[in-house]
Amino acid sequence: MIKILIINLLLALVQGFHELPQSPSRAGLPTVYEHFASNGISTGLEARNGSVLFSLNDKPLKIISGAMHYFRIHPDLWRDRLRKLRATGANTVETYVAWNLHEPRKDDYDFGEGNNDMSAFLNITRYIEMAQEEDLLVLLRPGPYICSEWDFGGFPSWLQRDPNLLVRQYNRPYLDRVEKWFKVLLPQLVDLQFTRGGPIIGVQIENEYASFNAVSKKYIQFIVDLVRAIGFTNTLLFTSDGSYNGIRGTLPDQLFYTANFQGDPEWNLDLLLELQPNKPVMSMEFWSGWFDHWFEKHNYLSTAEFGDILDRIIGNKYNGSVNLYMFHGGTNFGFMAGANAGNANPRYFPDVTSYDYDAPLSESGDYTEKYKKAMEIIDKYEFPKLSRPLLPAESTKRAYSPVTPDKYLSYADIILQLPTEARTFYVNPTSMEDLNMNGGNGQSFGYLIHRKRAITKSGVVLKAGPVKDFAFVLVDGIIQPSSFSGEGDGRYWINSEKEVTFENVTEDWHDIDIFVECTGRVNFGRDVHFLQKKGLPNGNVTLDGVQTQGFDVFALEFKSAWIRSLKNFKPVQDTSTLSAPVIVHGTFEIPGTPGDTFINMEGWEKGIIFVNGFNIGRYWNVGPQRTLYVPAPLLCTGQNNLTVFEQLKPGNHISFQDNANLGEIGKKSEPQKFYSESNPA
Ligand SMILES: *[C@@H]1O[C@H](CO)[C@@H](O)[C@H](O)[C@H]1NC(C)=O
Ligand SMILES: *[C@@H]1O[C@H](CO)[C@@H](O)[C@H](O)[C@H]1NC(C)=O
Ligand SMILES: *[C@@H]1O[C@H](CO)[C@@H](O)[C@H](O)[C@H]1NC(C)=O
Ligand SMILES: *[C@@H]1O[C@H](CO)[C@@H](O)[C@H](O)[C@H]1NC(C)=O
Ligand SMILES: *[C@@H]1O[C@H](CO)[C@@H](O)[C@H](O)[C@H]1NC(C)=O
Ligand SMILES: *[C@@H]1O[C@H](CO)[C@@H](O)[C@H](O)[C@H]1NC(C)=O
Repeated sequence: MIKILIINLLLALVQGFHELPQSPSRAGLPTVYEHFASNGISTGLEARNGSVLFSLNDKPLKIISGAMHYFRIHPDLWRDRLRKLRATGANTVETYVAWNLHEPRKDDYDFGEGNNDMSAFLNITRYIEMAQEEDLLVLLRPGPYICSEWDFGGFPSWLQRDPNLLVRQYNRPYLDRVEKWFKVLLPQLVDLQFTRGGPIIGVQIENEYASFNAVSKKYIQFIVDLVRAIGFTNTLLFTSDGSYNGIRGTLPDQLFYTANFQGDPEWNLDLLLELQPNKPVMSMEFWSGWFDHWFEKHNYLSTAEFGDILDRIIGNKYNGSVNLYMFHGGTNFGFMAGANAGNANPRYFPDVTSYDYDAPLSESGDYTEKYKKAMEIIDKYEFPKLSRPLLPAESTKRAYSPVTPDKYLSYADIILQLPTEARTFYVNPTSMEDLNMNGGNGQSFGYLIHRKRAITKSGVVLKAGPVKDFAFVLVDGIIQPSSFSGEGDGRYWINSEKEVTFENVTEDWHDIDIFVECTGRVNFGRDVHFLQKKGLPNGNVTLDGVQTQGFDVFALEFKSAWIRSLKNFKPVQDTSTLSAPVIVHGTFEIPGTPGDTFINMEGWEKGIIFVNGFNIGRYWNVGPQRTLYVPAPLLCTGQNNLTVFEQLKPGNHISFQDNANLGEIGKKSEPQKFYSESNPA
């Protein structure tokens, strides 16, 4: 750890001291590992009867943790973010594990060695080792279900191909998959337990399981036994739930119980003490802010409220332990954002790309007022008092020159370049997951087109549905404006049936396309079946009331390798003549060392952006999010490529700015109403 201190000192000299207050002098105080591990390790984390604090290796510990997900942070920035967490005085980092990224195809695992778009983010061993190098302990939440505003709560979409599989239940096909997955994942981490010299002090079993309708104690026992059998024997196992749900989702005699909440800490912590007397109390998720849905405002929790609640959790009344969810949210890159389901189906609320969460450390790793507040309160109540690293400098932000597209691929060109397996024929409408592609795993993400060639004309009414999720209709590649009427801003029709009356169509043979986007699978669901197929699952298409069959089906996955392989672009003469759906390409030069930047798609409507082939996520002019974060490690000195898939209406140029715009701030009362019985994380 001496080494770390020296590195810190050097970094501070190189980068200059940040203007934020440095923590009070802590000269002579030990590091986390000097304090807890220097004289040999006999016991791991324990929640002892009669003790207000946890004990680690027989020494009292108030866990002050921050949630930070490796899969939401560019790996080159892991160390920076971990150090910024440690510099608040926090002693622990918490992370979920995203099964869907690690097993993108059945039995085909990826921990960084794969050839998948997110492979570089997936060396979880490295992340956990790095946490220890940065003097942090680790709380691991491997799920298998994680919620987390992450597509399908972290479940791989291919699980749904087995009609007998029921997630989160004592169901053999599901248990078999979980067992296989955990037997690949956990042996890699077992030697990183604290008692074996690593940083992992606790492992969570499932996630907010008490909120699920079909709670099965046998299922929880199955996971506990599995985790123990793999060797997590001297590590605290725990569950986390909304405390109002009580202990229905846990095994009180075997698992430590923690609570997730934002407001009213006394009510929540008293309830914990009732449910689990004489034990330490911990908020496994104290929601430092909140996530955003499209169409709503940018959520927040004021710094004053944040500080007040944190003070009441870790202050002298309870001496509670805490995990700030989030400490640093990061980004839902690519198609990874999840969604919520309202109580009245088919209400559906997809999440935005940013996972800034109004957290203490912003999406781009910058210090906020909340960060300073966290530091101030941790200073008062941390136990034990330990040394801290100096605050790392913030990254440089750049506003590069706007990019004007130089070449494009039309909708027809795009379809022509789809791989063979992405073009198929179905008699009846289908879902993405059921397609015969990706080695029998179906399509996980992107868009699905059902094309019907038929004689039709103006005035004919096409009905298609249910569309999952966002859909519009084209005739010969031209978007039918009546595609847009219905929910959401009065213009879009999501997750229901779509009715379109053809306009300006002369009677003849035409290609009628139903274009459907998966805008994210629901990640929080109480529903037993939790069905999440996308495209036109159980769909029905009629023309003037007559059922239509026989479709050319095109799967648009927009994988990085495909984006990089695109050819036969046509030069853009005048951007105003482009019509969507369209892929446009442009380049921009970076003279020196790249800096973080933010892309603003003002003038465009809805789509996805690739920076040097990497999908940085969705933009949508309904907001609230206005800019997309581009971490510097995605950029290079010299020429950089920008590729945009615009679904609805291309703009003229793509601009960069040096600060984030996540939209108008506001608390929407609706989510509170919809989720009063449910949970966000
Ligand atoms: C736990 O501690 C309380 C008081 O500190 C005591 O009354 C109780 O018997 C203890 N329970 C167990 C299981 O040791
Ligand atoms: C992942 O990190 C571990 C530990 O640092 C390292 O040994 C391993 O080679 C890494 N794996 C990949 C695929 O880079
Ligand atoms: C919490 O810790 C403080 C400082 O050690 C102590 O004064 C206080 O009594 C403790 N509170 C509880 C509930 O144990
Ligand atoms: C149909 O033609 C009218 C008149 O030219 C025009 O206003 C309308 O936008 C057209 N609709 C479509 C779908 O092109
Ligand atoms: C599809 O719609 C037609 C016409 O309304 C109806 O006859 C048919 O039963 C429907 N099929 C399904 C699978 O819903
Ligand atoms: C940009 O695209 C060109 C053409 O495909 C490719 O040769 C080049 O390597 C790309 N640059 C980066 C930084 O990815």
